[in-house]
Amino acid sequence: MKFFIDTANLEDIKEAQTLGVLDGVTTNPSLMAKEGITGKDNILKHYLAICTIVDGDVSAEVISTDFDGMVREGEELAALHEQIVVKLPMIADGIKACKYFSDKGIRTNVTLVFSAGQALLAAKAGATYVSPFLGRLDDISTDGMHLISEIREIYDNYAFNTQILSASIRHTMHVVNCAKVGSDVMTGPLSSIKGLLKHPLTDIGLNQFIEDAKKMQL
Ligand code: G3P
Repeated sequence: MKFFIDTANLEDIKEAQTLGVLDGVTTNPSLMAKEGITGKDNILKHYLAICTIVDGDVSAEVISTDFDGMVREGEELAALHEQIVVKLPMIADGIKACKYFSDKGIRTNVTLVFSAGQALLAAKAGATYVSPFLGRLDDISTDGMHLISEIREIYDNYAFNTQILSASIRHTMHVVNCAKVGSDVMTGPLSSIKGLLKHPLTDIGLNQFIEDAKKMQL
């Protein structure tokens, strides 16, 4: 399973990259706004800065909600850097734009997916990635993991190439469960990646080894 980090924070991206397990980055307008980035030039510069830190795909989301606007923005974003993946909302014009970009060989990420039917449409339109929002379904007492399993089953039935990019990951068990059901990618905050490191028995065991190593008088 690929690990993407879901942030526009350059320090977090650098830290995940340094760990050596990072395969890509996803952003969205909320995450960009959180970093206080304003103005088109600064936003484009920020995407470029992200591309220089990480080797893999970087999802950059369009703001427009109409086909022409999405195509205009998406083409500009895709031309910015070869690592950029155009992120499109799961609406009719987003699906049309997805098909347009897919026909042109431009990679896409269809976002705000909350049902298996939406994921099926995104795959039919040739999406490179589909982003089901796991945590936001859990937030409303709906089993987000079940959706990931349903999409996995549908994509496997028809050998769709679209990769399941499980998004809205909130914690390490989301990451582990995504791996169990065969999600192709997970994108989460740095804490969800670093949380995988933690186990008290690892810390207790290491302390014991360090103490015992002292007896070896190396
Ligand atoms: O990638 C989508 C993600 O940013 C949404 O996460 O935590 O806002 O539901 P969240």
